[in-house]
Parts: sequence; C-alpha cells; structure tokens
Amino acid sequence: MDRLDRSSKCSRLTLLLRNLAIAMVAYVAVVEVLSIYQTGSIYPLAKKRRPSSDTPKDNGPLSGGVNWRLRPQTLVAHINDAYLGPRPHVDTFANYTRLVESCRGSLTGLEKMKNVHDCLHYLAYAEKDYFFAPQDPPSRALPAYPAVEAAAPHTNETIGECPGPVQLFHTYWTGPATWRVELFVKAYLYTQNIPCSRLYLWLESDGFPHAVEDMLADKNFARFLPLVERGDIVLKAWKFPSRIPLPRGAVEEDPAYVGSKPVRRTSPDDPKTVRKEVYIADGVVRDEEDGSEWLVLTERQMTFLPVAVSDAVRFIVLHLYGGAYFDMDVMLLRDLRPLLLPPDHSFAERWAVHSHPGDYNTAVMSLAPNTSLSSYLVRGGIRMGLNFHPRIIGRMAWKDGRNEEFVMFETGLFDPIWGEFNWGREGRCAIPCFRDYGVAFLGGRGAVRDEWESYDGAPLELVQVGGPTGELRRRGNGEPASAQDETEAVKAGQGKPGPDGKYGGAPYALKDDKYPPNNRTLENFFRGAWSYHIHNQWSKHPQPNSWFDVIQKAHDGFLSGERTNPYGEKWTGPALLPYDRWPEFD
Ligand SMILES: *[C@@H]1O[C@H](CO)[C@@H](O)[C@H](O)[C@H]1NC(C)=O
Ligand SMILES: *[C@@H]1O[C@H](CO)[C@@H](O)[C@H](O)[C@H]1NC(C)=O
Ligand SMILES: *[C@@H]1O[C@H](CO)[C@@H](O)[C@H](O)[C@H]1NC(C)=O
Ligand SMILES: *[C@@H]1O[C@H](CO)[C@@H](O)[C@H](O)[C@H]1NC(C)=O
Repeated sequence: MDRLDRSSKCSRLTLLLRNLAIAMVAYVAVVEVLSIYQTGSIYPLAKKRRPSSDTPKDNGPLSGGVNWRLRPQTLVAHINDAYLGPRPHVDTFANYTRLVESCRGSLTGLEKMKNVHDCLHYLAYAEKDYFFAPQDPPSRALPAYPAVEAAAPHTNETIGECPGPVQLFHTYWTGPATWRVELFVKAYLYTQNIPCSRLYLWLESDGFPHAVEDMLADKNFARFLPLVERGDIVLKAWKFPSRIPLPRGAVEEDPAYVGSKPVRRTSPDDPKTVRKEVYIADGVVRDEEDGSEWLVLTERQMTFLPVAVSDAVRFIVLHLYGGAYFDMDVMLLRDLRPLLLPPDHSFAERWAVHSHPGDYNTAVMSLAPNTSLSSYLVRGGIRMGLNFHPRIIGRMAWKDGRNEEFVMFETGLFDPIWGEFNWGREGRCAIPCFRDYGVAFLGGRGAVRDEWESYDGAPLELVQVGGPTGELRRRGNGEPASAQDETEAVKAGQGKPGPDGKYGGAPYALKDDKYPPNNRTLENFFRGAWSYHIHNQWSKHPQPNSWFDVIQKAHDGFLSGERTNPYGEKWTGPALLPYDRWPEFD
C-alpha cells in the first residue's frame, strides 16, 4: 500500500514534470514564431520591424520610381466641373411617384427595379419630368424669409440666409475624425445649398461622455472648426433618451396598443414635481396636466442599450428633428433639397434588389418629424426590444399597412452599384461600371476592368503627358503648363531631393508611373444618383488617381476657390485645408 502509494506519487511527479516541459517547449515555440513575424529575425531580442508602410521607401518608392510631386492630376484637358448645370430653384419639389415608377416600374411587376443604368439615365437627364414647382412656394410661407433674389450668400464668417425652411442633415459617428469623416463633410459642402442646410454630427456619448470635446480638439477635425463656428456643422452628443415625446393621438391609432388598460401613477423619475401620469399602454405615458404623450424606456432598457445603436439613432433623431439621416459611408453627389422639401418627405432605400415591399435599407433615410409615421416607427422599434434593424422595422410597417407612407426608393438613387451583387442586374452596367465596392479606391493601371463599358459619349480631350513631347501640366489648375513651369517641375525632380531625400532622379515618365493620371472626372461618376454608398471599408485609403482621389481633388479645388462645384458655384466661405496625402502610395 505504502510502496504503491509512493510509486504512484513518483509517477505523478514525472507526469507533472513532463507536462511542464511540453508546455515550456510549446511556449518558446510560440514566442519565437511571433518574434520572427514581428521582427523578421530569429533572435528573440531583435528590434520590432517598422510598420510595413515605411518599409518600401528603403527599397525605392512604390509607384515605380516616379516622383509623385511631378505626377499630373489628370489627363483631361478641360474638366467640366459644372456638369449638373444651375442648382434647382430653392422651392423645387421632387415628384416621388415619378421617381418610384420610373426606377421601379409597377408595385407588383417591379419591371425596372434591376435596371439601374436606365434609372440613372432618367435621373440625370429627365429632371423636368420629376421636378416641379409647388403651388405654394415654401420660400413665401413665412414673412421672415428673405426674397430669393435678396438672400445673402455665405461668407467667411456667416452662413448666409435661406429663402425658405432650412433642411437638417444628420449623421452619427463614434471615435476620432478620420479621412472618412472629412470625405463625408466635404461631399456635403460640395453639393448642398449651404445657407439652407445644417449638418448635425451626432457623436456617441453614452459610452464616451467627452465625445464632443474630443472632436473639437481632434487635429483632423480642426480644418472644420470655422464651419462649426459659422453654424454649418453642429456637434451633438448622442445619448439614448429615456423619454421620447409623441404627437398627440398617435398611440390611439396604433393597433399594437389596442386594449391596454390605463393605470395612474406618479412619474418615478420626477418625484419632486409629482406630475400625474397615466400609463396608457406598455411604455407609453400621458401627462394628466397637459395631455402630452411620451414613450418611456424602462430602467432595464436603459441599462441594456442595443449594440446596433446607430440603427436606432436615425429613427429617434428624425422623429425629434426631421430632415434626413445618412450613414457616414454615404457620399453625397447632388443637392437633396428637392427630395427633403415636400411636407411628407418620408423615405428610405430598397434593400439591394429584394422584391419584398418591407425590405428597407436606412443608410439614407428621411422622416417628417413628430408625425404619426415617425412615432409609429420609433414605438415599434422600442416595443420589439429596441430592435431597429431596417428590415425588421420595414416588415412591421408593411404588416401594419403603413409602408406606403414610407416611400421606398430604388438603389439607383443612393447606392447605384448594390444591384450588381444580388441576382444580377438587367440592362447595362452603370457609368463607371463597378463590380465591387473596393475599386473606387484603386488607382493602378487597369485596376478597374471595363469601367467605361457603358460610356457611349465622345472621349474627353486629353493632354500629352511625359510623352515624347514631354509636355507637363502644373498641379491643380486646368491650364497647360508654361515652359517655365515645366522646367521648374523637372528641376524639382532632378535637382534638389524632396524633403525626405528620396526623390531625386528622373523626370516624370507616364509609362513608369504605377498610378498614372487618367480620364476620370466626377462628371462621369454615377451621374444622376444623389449619393454613392461606400459600404464600410473604413480603414482603406484612396490610391493616387483612383476615383476617390479624383473626387478629393474636385472637393479641394472647390473649397480652395479654384474650381466650381457641379452647379457651377464658387465657394464663398472660409478656405479649408485640403485632404492629407497618403505617403504609403509614394
Ligand atoms: C407626380 O407624378 C404622378 C405620376 O406620374 C402624376 O400623376 C402627378 O400629377 C405628379 N404630381 C405633380 C405635382 O406633378
Ligand atoms: C408634436 O406634435 C404635437 C401635436 O400633435 C404638438 O403638440 C407637440 O408640441 C409637437 N412636439 C414637438 C416636439 O414638436
Ligand atoms: C477614358 O478612356 C477609355 C480608354 O482608356 C475610353 O474607353 C473611355 O471612353 C474614356 N472615357 C472618357 C469619359 O473619355
Ligand atoms: C476670407 O478668408 C480668406 C482667408 O481664409 C481671405 O483670403 C479672404 O480675403 C476672406 N474674404 C473676405 C471677403 O473677407
């Protein structure tokens, strides 16, 4: 017994030692593999390798040895910036019925739903068919509105005057100001009617109480501070409200609340004033004194706020303020005022080319505030356990027969390439032809295959660059370079090395450039669509001469006063800093 015990103790000890040894070997192996991966060396104490974006510099620039400072911005001889013509009159309404029928077809047949090319063509060239001047122009609705001709434009310090109601644009963000925030804001400034628009940037503040201060101190956001001061951009702290006001009588008509028995109680969150409140239904109270009705979230709901906060934000914010909501990965391309001005401007987008009338996407969405519809949607989301997934809410609205009030626009209006990924489009590809959301970032030669497949227009006139004639164009403006510019540019490349000492060497040669200039212009970027949806890809950067790079140059050219926007207007506000360069592509 004793011996047996001892020998078993002994064997247990051996077992333990063996296991320890195995664990140690495994640990060393893992550490070594990690260390080789991080440092590129088998010596465990070697220094960490620098991030990969730095490494290529040591082996020469990525873009084929070409000096990016000499790279022309475009090959197009005369860029047509003002391709949309004059901005629609400030009182213009869009005819939703025409837009829906022209891009969808009939409600049951959906004959045109999958033909985005023809929808875009209609949007671009048939404005007269779907825009109209309402009988009572909104600009004359209040005596306080200035006359259309007399309204002051925006200046360095003031946002100007709007002859009519101002439209609100909302977006939501968590974290620091990245390039994508800049792209969103600049696209907004590039396209919208500035004195008649305000941009509310909702910053997640339930988890980050200092979000607004942090944004004001963010160095990437600093370029927009003059606009915060001027009132264009309003930074708002988003906190999930515990009480949401409802328009009177909205609850009574909601079938979900039929048969609830009112219970009288005093408000638990307001014990001092002891307001008398009647609980008229699950989560809905009525103030006995003034008759106002409220949605009240329970403590439990406030503790377990939804993960998909942004899904809920848009419904609540639009119910409270009205206007339109855009996800940060939506880039505006046209003036939205004609869509937002009609009194019943409640709409969202179709979920790709799903044929179900309840399958909405809410990346772009608009609601008239404090209406029966807006409060119905908010009540529904809260009742379903704070679930505001657009397709859940949409199916609910469809079941309750309310989807006709909530207009569903086709993807051509806001996300023109979404149809490429579902059951196959009908008709031709859009212009440009994208088969993948990533290609808008690519600037390499031939990276976007067949992008001009559907372009039937005359090719744009091009300039010769770095060819046998050696003609160079100055960065930034549309004029051909003078002989003096040319020699200066070549000198900059050949004579002195750049600030980082890496770019002495040959003059610019188009054929060696990995990201050569090309004939892309915003004029041919999904013309007709009100926006382009990037669909996430938050950490990507645009390669030189990619579509997004071409768009950046158009934005910066406008905001620096050198170029016009698509409506042929000059920027009259404060000069804004240009986009940063991405040295990773040098
Ligand atoms: C809007 O379009 C519909 C359908 O074509 C048409 O019946 C209606 O008269 C139009 N409304 C206005 C105000 O033009
Ligand atoms: C919402 O509409 C009701 C009338 O239905 C009105 O009494 C209330 O003041 C409005 N609330 C807001 C926030 O505009
Ligand atoms: C751009 O160039 C391609 C050929 O490289 C051509 O097919 C296309 O039509 C051109 N597009 C424009 C707008 O000129
Ligand atoms: C506006 O500010 C810019 C500098 O940002 C300045 O060059 C310009 O003269 C100013 N315009 C007016 C009208 O004050």
